[in-house]
Amino acid sequence: MSKIIVAPSVLSADFSDIKGALKDIKSSGAPWVHLDVMDGTFVPNITFGPKFVSDIRPHSDLFYDVHLMIENPQNHVEAFAKAGAQAITVHSEACVHLDRTLNKIKSLGCLAGVSIVPSTPVSAIECVLDVADLVLVMSVNPGFGGQSLIPYTLDKVRQLKQLRGNRKYLISIDGGVNELTCRDVRDAGVDVMVAGSAFFASPDKGAFVNSLTGGER
Ligand code: DX5
Ligand code: ZN
Repeated sequence: MSKIIVAPSVLSADFSDIKGALKDIKSSGAPWVHLDVMDGTFVPNITFGPKFVSDIRPHSDLFYDVHLMIENPQNHVEAFAKAGAQAITVHSEACVHLDRTLNKIKSLGCLAGVSIVPSTPVSAIECVLDVADLVLVMSVNPGFGGQSLIPYTLDKVRQLKQLRGNRKYLISIDGGVNELTCRDVRDAGVDVMVAGSAFFASPDKGAFVNSLTGGER
């Protein structure tokens, strides 16, 4: 039985005080930081690139979980690995040669993640489940923090858990995770919970992280 990993997303942090945000995450007890990279094409929003990741890398020993919401992610995975990413997740909808890209991410020494938006079925990534180290189920339409979790996406978590068998991939959920939704999310069987707005809005971030994990499973 392993503890659920909470991965606060800095998307909802004050970018003028990113070091403070990293410290808040560390002191909350969350082991990962989730870094949302957006290109304004795959998703309507724009955030940051590899320079941001390499600039903040020396300021924290958290596990850097990079979520690429960009077209042609294969062209950028090396730069993010060099910048200090430890997991790199690409979208199946943005990447034709998913098998090649996931293997490339692994060869760079990172966990290789694949993500699906709410309208993409699990069957779209079934062929690469042997290769993936992490499967990120988007529980909102990607692009912005603060949206409500779409309940049917939890069916995909259950499906992925059932399909896993002896494979080792982590199942991550991203979008609309908060104190109200975390029980359903946990019960569905996730290993990693990404939380942005709810984490940064929380006055007691340590208590927030504990409420998400709900203790040992
Ligand atoms: C949305 C991003 C998420 C975002 C989640 O496209 O991928 O990581 O930060 O934010 P909340 O937790 O506010 O839904
Ligand atoms: Zn994300």
